[in-house]
This record gives sequence, C-alpha cells and structure tokens, in this order.
Amino acid sequence: MDNINFLNKKSKIKIIPIASGKGGVGKTFLSSNLAVTLGKAGKNTVVIDMDIGGSNLHTVLGIKNSNKGIGSLITKRNIKLKDLLIETQYENLKLISGDILIPGVSDISSSKRRNIIKSLYELKCEYLIVDLGAGSSDNIVDFMLLSSFPLMVVTPQITSVLNAYSLAKNLIYRLLYILTDKDRKATNVINSFKRKIVEGEKKTVWDILNKIYSVNKKYSNQFKKIVEKLRIKLVVNMMQTKEDNAIIKKMISQIYQKLALKIDIIGILPYNQSVNYSIAKRVPIVSYNDESIITTNVNDIGNKIVDFSERSDNSNLVFSEKMFDEFDNSILDESEPKDDSMFDKTSLLNKITSQEKEINRLRHIIKILTNNKDV
Ligand SMILES: Nc1ncnc2c1ncn2[C@@H]1O[C@H](COP(=O)(O)OP(=O)(O)O)[C@@H](O)[C@H]1O
Ligand SMILES: [Mg+2]
Repeated sequence: MDNINFLNKKSKIKIIPIASGKGGVGKTFLSSNLAVTLGKAGKNTVVIDMDIGGSNLHTVLGIKNSNKGIGSLITKRNIKLKDLLIETQYENLKLISGDILIPGVSDISSSKRRNIIKSLYELKCEYLIVDLGAGSSDNIVDFMLLSSFPLMVVTPQITSVLNAYSLAKNLIYRLLYILTDKDRKATNVINSFKRKIVEGEKKTVWDILNKIYSVNKKYSNQFKKIVEKLRIKLVVNMMQTKEDNAIIKKMISQIYQKLALKIDIIGILPYNQSVNYSIAKRVPIVSYNDESIITTNVNDIGNKIVDFSERSDNSNLVFSEKMFDEFDNSILDESEPKDDSMFDKTSLLNKITSQEKEINRLRHIIKILTNNKDV
C-alpha cells in the first residue's frame, strides 16, 4: 500500500472522533460524558473541541472560556497543541478547548488541519475524544478517517438521518479520492459517476468500484480493505418511540447498499430531560447520577469502545503525511449528488403525518392543561 499505513506503531493513542451530519444532535453532550466516563475508568483521556465556530465543550465541562484553544493555534504561530491542555475537575481528563475568544475563526485551512492531525499523536494520553462540528466537509471527514471506529451521532429526525447519510457519502467519496490520489483516469471515473448521480441515475459505490477496477485493480482492492476495517459506530440519541427504530434501520441498510459502508449501532440513548438539566448545570450527568439511564448507556458505550480498541491492536487508520499533503482540489468535480432519493416519498409523508399527529396530540394536552383555546 503506497500512501496508506493502517497502523501507526509509534502512537498508542486511540482516537475517537465524534461526528454528525446535523447540528444539535448531542455530539458535545456525548463527548463530554464519554470523556468523563473513560477518565473514571482509569483511562488517561483528552477531549478536544474541534467545532470551530461553535465551540461549547468547555461550557458543558464547567470551564470558563478564558483559555487558549484551537482558535489560538489557528491564528497564531509558535503555539503547540500540547500547550493548550487544560486540567479539568474530572479524574484523568484534560481538555483542549475550541476557543471562541478569537472572532473570525470558523474554518481551518487544509495545511493547518494537517498540522493539527500530526500533533494529535504527540499528546500523551490513551484516549483522545474529538468533538467535531456538524456537517460533512473535508475538515470533518479527515478527522473521522483517523480512526477505524469513528462515532456518528444521529437522532431519528428525518433531517438528521438524511444529513447522516450525506456525511457517510462524503466520507466514502473522500476515501476514494484520497486512494486514487492524483491518478487522472481513476479520478475521472469518480467524477463521472458523481455527475450521473446528480443527473438522477441510480448508481452506487459498488458500480464505481467495478469501473475503477477496470482502470486500476489496486485502487478498488485497497478501498475494499479499508472499508472493511472502517466501521462507523452509530449512537442513536434522543430516541422517543419504537417507530424511530425503523427509520434508523433503513438508514443503515441504505448506507451499506449504496455506499458499501458498514455501520454498527454502539448505543441508543433516550430523550431525557435530565440531559438538558445537566447541560444547564454545566456538569456532565455521568459524574453525579449513577442511577440515570443516560449514565448506564454512556457507560455501556465506553465499555464497548475500550473492548473494541483494546481487542484490535490497529484501531487507528493512520494515513501517511503524503495523504494529507495539499490536495489538488482542482481535479475534483464540485457538483454534489442529491441523496433525497434515499427515502421514498411515501415513507417521508408517513413520517411527517405521524409527527403532525404527535404535535396535535401535544397541543390537545397543552389545551387541557392550560385551558387555553388558542393553542
Ligand atoms: N438524550 C437527550 N435528551 C434530551 N436532550 C438532549 C439529549 N441529548 C442532547 N440533548 C440536548 O440537545 C442539545 C444539543 O446537544 P449538543 O450536545 O450541544 O449537540 P451538538 O454538539 O451535536 O450540536 C442540548 O441542549 C442538549 O441538552
Ligand atoms: Mg457541539
């Protein structure tokens, strides 16, 4: 394998990126609670806020935003990532804050990103949790590709599910482009498939792989090997009803059928008011409420991560520096395939109808409770 090494033997850090297609689904809540859980379990842990422009991890950990963070690293020279470590009040847990003190920082150039990624491995810790921003830009996807078990948070809302699909799709396309590097023939194949999808033709990543195979066997074999190793771990958050299961199951099967990407559900967290309370208190729930179902479920996710990462000695997908070298974006086709076809109109309508029913039911309850006829 020329440009990809699976295993960085020098680094023992287990990187756990936490991503989502849509914002507000619970990444920061999960990052903070998982970090406290791993620390409690005796694992030397660092949690880092990479949601540049929307940093709030420090807040949920009860830390004032008066420290240097990633924002300083981006805007100033001579600052090292390890200089940004802040002690927290939790056992074995340090924070690198995102820093919203510096206005105008909302994105990272690819060279800065490359430098940050390189310096992640210099941190002295066992587990590194990366709280990412929402969306599916290269910034997000490149961090996800550092680990063979990136976490993706999704809620059963249709918008969250569709955005999760887009994130998975961009991850796969990014991987394809990285693998084929600057090989024009192979890149053209990917671009032409993207165009066909935009034009409404039903094509999958399997079709792209077959075509790439005919251009260069090496790439499609490499892709299959990496995708086999890359298992997205899904956390379904804010579950409310049993019907929510179906929408998530459908998403997982569509992602496999269309994008060749396997997803394992690693945890399901119910919608629970105590989460909002803990965020308002600025104290992660796992640190003070052992009885909560949220604590039990987050512990369970933590145990699975530890088991998984300690079982497989090659938990990080470490790409060589070459891969992160300035990517020649000019060869990429900018047009984006639409994925709205993922859910047929009938199931979308059914979902909307059931949500409308739920709203009406709640309106009715409020009416009774408040005796207000205008609700
Ligand atoms: N399981 C849950 N039950 C109830 N509220 C939740 C749950 N998970 C997250 N929330 C609420 O959702 C909001 C967004 O969560 P946050 O972690 O900031 O999302 P993200 O980091 O993905 O943007 C927070 O106000 C939080 O209280
Ligand atoms: Mg967040």
